[in-house]
Parts: sequence; C-alpha cells; structure tokens
Amino acid sequence: MHNPRLGADVVAAEQVQDVAVTTDGKVRFTLLLDASDDATLVREARLAVEGVEGVSDVRIDVTDPAEFAAGRDARRGAQRAAHTHGHTHGHTHAAPAAAPRGPARALPVMDAAPARPATPAAPTPVAYPHLGKIIAVSSGKGGVGKSTVAVNLAAALAKQGARVGIMDADIYGPNLPLMLGVNEAPPVRDNMIQPLMAFGVKVMSIGFLIERDQPAIWRGPIVMKVINQFLKDVAWGELDYLLVDMPPGTGDAQLSLVQATHVHGAIVVTTPQAVAVGDALRGVRMFERTGVPVLGIVENMSYLENPETGKPIAVFGSGGGQQLADEVQVPLLGQVPLDPRVVEGGDTGRPIVVAAPQTGAARALTSLAERVAERVAERYGVPAGR
Ligand SMILES: Nc1ncnc2c1ncn2[C@@H]1O[C@H](COP(=O)(O)OP(=O)(O)OP(=O)(O)O)[C@@H](O)[C@H]1O
Ligand SMILES: [Mg+2]
Repeated sequence: MHNPRLGADVVAAEQVQDVAVTTDGKVRFTLLLDASDDATLVREARLAVEGVEGVSDVRIDVTDPAEFAAGRDARRGAQRAAHTHGHTHGHTHAAPAAAPRGPARALPVMDAAPARPATPAAPTPVAYPHLGKIIAVSSGKGGVGKSTVAVNLAAALAKQGARVGIMDADIYGPNLPLMLGVNEAPPVRDNMIQPLMAFGVKVMSIGFLIERDQPAIWRGPIVMKVINQFLKDVAWGELDYLLVDMPPGTGDAQLSLVQATHVHGAIVVTTPQAVAVGDALRGVRMFERTGVPVLGIVENMSYLENPETGKPIAVFGSGGGQQLADEVQVPLLGQVPLDPRVVEGGDTGRPIVVAAPQTGAARALTSLAERVAERVAERYGVPAGR
C-alpha cells in the first residue's frame, strides 16, 4: 500500500507497527498517521489486510507518530528506571492535533485536544429517549451495501410517516453526504449542531465537519468522542428512529456505539455469497455479545431481475441470507436485487426509494422498512403518538 505523501509504501515507511496475529486469523496493528496523511489510508490498510486469505478480523490502532515514539520512549524509560518518580505519559510529547481547516467547518464539536488514553472501565451507556429506537446498520464485510440500505431505509421510514434521523459512525469513510446529496457545514444554534435535512430525514455525518481529503486528524480514540457528541450535541428533536451507518467490520465504532448508548437493534447486511455470510455471522455475534438484539438480516445484491420476464437471476449464488438468518435464528427481513439504479441513486444523492420507487429494488427496500418497523414494534411497542 502506497502513501502518496511519502511516495513510499506504508510498511517500508515504518508506518505499520506492533503487528500481532492470532491463530484464528485476527490481526491487530498500529498505523502511524501523520497529521498530513490522508485519513483514507486507514480504510485502505484495512481493506488490504482483510483481503489476505485466512484473516478473520482486523483491528487497527491509529496513532500519531510523535505520540507513538513518545509512548515507546516512556515504555523503555519505565523499564530502565522503574523507581524514578513521576510518570511519563505518551501524551506529554504528543503533537497537538491539527485544528479542522477553515472557519466554516471548525465546529465546537471537535475540540482539538489529543484524545486521552482509553480508560480501563467501559463507560456507562447513556439513554437518549428523544432519539427513539437506535438501530445500527452493520455487516462484517465492507462494500455489501450497509450505507445504501441505511439511507434507503431512512428515506422509506420517513415516507411512511416516521420521524427519522441518520448518522454515520464511519469516521474514515463517511458516505452519507454523497448518498443523500447534502454536504455543508451544519449550522450551530445554542451550542447545538443542527442536522441537515434530506428526503424528510435528519442527517448528521462526520463528512459535514471535515473537508474531503483532510489530513488524518481523526484518531482512533476520537471515534468514541464523535459518536458521543453526535448523540448528545446534535439537535435531533424527537425521533422515532435513529439509524446508524456503521463502518465495515466488528471493531472500534461498534464497540464505541454500544458503550455510548443503549442500541435497540442491529440490522446485519450481507450478500448471498458464503464468504460474505461468514463475515456477517461474526458481525451478528459481536452484537449478541454486547447485548444488542439483532432485528434481522438483509440480503443485498441478492439477484438480478431478468428485464424481460422480471424473474430473478441469481448472480452471486443464492440462499446466503436465509442460511445466516436460520443459523442465528433471526428473520430474513428482505432481499434487495442488484440494480444499477441503486448505484446511480447513491452517486447522485437520491436514494432509489425516492428516485425510482417502482423498481424492484426500491420496492424491496420499502417493504424492508415496513418489516423493520414491525420488528421494532414487536419488541418495544408502537412509538408513542403514532
Ligand atoms: N442492490 C444494489 N444493486 C446495485 N448496486 C448496489 C446495491 N447495493 C449497493 N450497491 C452499490 O455497491 C457499492 C457499495 O455499497 P455501499 O457503499 O452501500 O456499501 P457499504 O457496505 O456501506 O460499504 P463500506 O463498507 O465501504 O461502508 C455502492 O456503489 C452501491 O451503490
Ligand atoms: Mg458504508
């Protein structure tokens, strides 16, 4: 993997440190990112490692090189002089995180102080009753259509009359601005960030707060901070549902979200292939372990519709979603066909449930929204006032 800033490979540039691998294929390493590095390097690194055969899980700790060096010196110092008084924290030498560029996006949500080291005790989740039911849209694997499902689900629920918010927990690759066609600095009123509106849905994305290609000032530990502030400091008003578009994998963001608040349900997206299903299974288990009920499975890119007969053609094999649903004993909430208009909708910021509601894909996503509402009502009762 190449770092354009250095004109060198990230491994050769010694940006990859502390690599650890377990026998069951879990990989963990530290990635040193300079303030001027592109944040997307993290995602590329993850994808590269995930693509290696046998790798079951990837965890990346993103650290500032100065902080890393200071931490290492501190560790060495501690070994050498265990009795000297005073303790050297890695952070005393940490380079200050760069402030977001430009006044328009320098919002109070992000103070530029370096993140504190993770505290050993997990924080107590905070309840936000006005946010309604908080639902994570997740998957084990990247690119299966989480963001697509999340935005269409949000738009479909809003069309059905629900009060809906959506936020992304994907600080390295926020998709919501593009997919919902909104991207500006949200106004701040009374110290609260006002979400943007798209298709009747309130939207908050880390993409609104940072410029595209902005250097990687968003360190790993900041994920927690961003999630907390999105829950706490955004003027969502009263919602029935808050959907959270998760990054791929079963890592920090998932953990941060369940530590930040009570998550009412997860929807796990998969594609029909067996490998994707294996990844999704890990995603399901992660939520189960943290006590989040999995509302069901969505099989995306399930089949292609024969344009002449309207009959399904299985492109990627079939039955994966059902197989997973059976295995973990949750319902298969929907099967969304492969349709180029879904991509177009994503690229032009008009979700297909709005742009082309008559298509098979839009109909599948619309009935998915109905199923999700039913599942939530079964579990938690019908939202007050509806
Ligand atoms: N049903 C579908 N038919 C055709 N294309 C689809 C469908 N669902 C998603 N796509 C396309 O697949 C690509 C990946 O989708 P998306 O970004 O929603 O996945 P993701 O799981 O959120 O990815 P990431 O893990 O990177 O966040 C996008 O280009 C999207 O338009
Ligand atoms: Mg996504």
